[in-house]
Amino acid sequence: KMDAYINGLMAKMTVDEKIGQLNLVTGGEATTGAAVSTDVEGKIRKGQVGGIFSLTTPGRIRKAQEIAVNGSRLHIPMLFGQDVIHGYKTSFPIPLALAASWDMPMIEHTARVAATEASADGINWTFSPMVDIARDPRWGRVAEGSGEDPYLGSAIARVMVKGYQGDDLKKANTIMACVKHFALYGAAEAGRDYNTTDMSPNRMYNEYLPPYKAAVDAGAGSIMASFNDINGTPATANKWLLTDVLRKQWGFNGFVVSDYTGVSEMIEHGLGNLQQVSGLALKAGMNMDMVSEGFLTTLKKSLAEKKVSLADIDAACRLILQAKYKLGLFDDPYKYCSEERAKTEILTPAHLKFSREAASQTFVLLKNDNKTLPLKKAGTIALIGPLGNSRANMPGTWAVNADLGNTPSLLEGLKAVAGDKANIVYNMGSNLLDDATEQKNGTMFGREIPRDARSEQDMIIDAVRTAEKADVVVAALGESSEMSGESSSRSNIQIPAIQQRLLAALLKTGKPVVLVLFTGRPLAIKWESENVPAILNVWFGGTQAAYAIADVLFGDVNPSGKLPITFPQNVGQVPIYYSHKNTGRPLPDGKWFTKFRSNYLDVSNDPLYPFGFGLSYTNFNYGGVTLSSGTLKNGGTITASVTVTNTGDREGKETVQLYTRDMVGSISRPVKELKGFQKISLKPGESKGVKFTISVNDLKFYNADLKYVAEPGEFKVFIGPNSRDVKESHFTLLDR
Ligand code: IFM
Repeated sequence: KMDAYINGLMAKMTVDEKIGQLNLVTGGEATTGAAVSTDVEGKIRKGQVGGIFSLTTPGRIRKAQEIAVNGSRLHIPMLFGQDVIHGYKTSFPIPLALAASWDMPMIEHTARVAATEASADGINWTFSPMVDIARDPRWGRVAEGSGEDPYLGSAIARVMVKGYQGDDLKKANTIMACVKHFALYGAAEAGRDYNTTDMSPNRMYNEYLPPYKAAVDAGAGSIMASFNDINGTPATANKWLLTDVLRKQWGFNGFVVSDYTGVSEMIEHGLGNLQQVSGLALKAGMNMDMVSEGFLTTLKKSLAEKKVSLADIDAACRLILQAKYKLGLFDDPYKYCSEERAKTEILTPAHLKFSREAASQTFVLLKNDNKTLPLKKAGTIALIGPLGNSRANMPGTWAVNADLGNTPSLLEGLKAVAGDKANIVYNMGSNLLDDATEQKNGTMFGREIPRDARSEQDMIIDAVRTAEKADVVVAALGESSEMSGESSSRSNIQIPAIQQRLLAALLKTGKPVVLVLFTGRPLAIKWESENVPAILNVWFGGTQAAYAIADVLFGDVNPSGKLPITFPQNVGQVPIYYSHKNTGRPLPDGKWFTKFRSNYLDVSNDPLYPFGFGLSYTNFNYGGVTLSSGTLKNGGTITASVTVTNTGDREGKETVQLYTRDMVGSISRPVKELKGFQKISLKPGESKGVKFTISVNDLKFYNADLKYVAEPGEFKVFIGPNSRDVKESHFTLLDR
């Protein structure tokens, strides 16, 4: 039915109208590049616009859609896209934080709520999920993805697609997902945004490509090419990537859109003029051109000059029309334009409640000496730090539509949760950064932390006075939300020096200090981890984060987040990730430096906090790993079991993690690979048996010929609370 409809429509279309479908313009509400779209209305009437992004509300979207449907010759409706990355007006924790929850149903529900709200506001297409594996915390966009691991990243990619698209894209409360940024954007050299990536096929297929594939397999309707070049060819015009891998190997049947001006940026990449790069992109498998208007302005000329074919244009046009058909836009172009839904389905009490619960599941307790946490709701609590009283800072990066009116600052959240039981006092203590020259604090959405005009010394003296009068100090420090995310790479990933000096002064008072760490990336907080008794990493938790932080600080919620990415001791260790190769000269266990071994003179190989790490207010004890058999036959399964006991005095959640190691392979294999996880809840004193089924499929990898195989031989199995502190066993994979 779809094919017949689209064949009929395409038979009526001129070449110009077909090219028009390949043009994505911006409505201009949030722009991330120099170029913006002009004369949008005139272009829609001429059939030169396939979709608009960054335009919201049913009223505005209906008006634009009416121009397309009533004002253009063939009445073809438009797509309306938006960066709905971690929630819509009800914002949720940044994606890196969501990954720290390891809670797939919960993550799926965040996408479901986001889709409900966005579709109620007129949007039918989101530029999410962002599934780029990232192992370099200098890169600001680690905040937008699920961290370093392909297994966890793939699991999250799947549930995000499902959350957005539901099981039926024709429903008015589902939206089309756009998996991004295809591909390897997270491996930008030196963590500098938009930079080159250069990678072996082994690493690509085994470590970086799996989450994109998982999202494609989950039925994602579209995919966005990345800005970077891959081994010399920009992703935007990379035929191997967009056609051979995506279409031929993975069978993707949705459409591909460029990232913002990705097409015209190939002029700067050095691939030719606008006509040349547009032709290259189309022929490589790019279907829609975001903002560049290279397709719109040059493809007809290229067709006349036989540089592209009508079949190339038709193929792209067909995919865009198919997307519109799948969304039901030909049946009802206004299906997302309900003023009623906009009034009743956005920022609902249920969404806000869920946002608070979700945020509390993402915080990672990194340290808690002497049971400093939880705090008592009593006495005087001094909240100190530049991030303690800013609403704008709570949603985090790429929360374009987050509603700050419903977003309390941490101070407001602490006061609300403590009620009149505790006296909460606030002191800014320091500015966010030393001065404007310490670091450019480029802002995307104007959400800056205001500067205080007083001198650093005056501010510290004032803060120390406040701390001295309190029973406990909560230091709200770290990065502002604008310090991670797009175009926010940092070469120094410590807490800004001015805040460290404030922290040192607070510690000198002798008062117990809790560091509430805001960050969109792993930070090098070695000094803090050695000197501050309690550290709660709260990332950026969204609309209701302040209440959630208070819930955890006061112990109403027991923290259960686990790091989805390694925290290094210093930036020189980067990239550091748990699933590294062994090398021919590994460091002996427990050793720091050994001459002629793979290590550093000045820092051990250990991370500061390993992948999967996170504490609780209770303790969990792991028994030994039991396997159902010492051998695994091809086609069979083996069960790995462990007993986990809550040995503390409060109920808590624990993410039990399963890793394997392929001891002998045809190529060198990682020292550990995550292969399963289960989040369980245990009452004080309670024990649970946790079982993982391992099948031959779980042991497969891409070999040197890029064949997906499991190789017979010995495998180790590890189970534990994180990637470091594991118990192990082993089995043999038989060849038959
Ligand atoms: O979706 C984003 C992308 O992640 C970065 N460049 C702009 C796009 C659209 O806003």
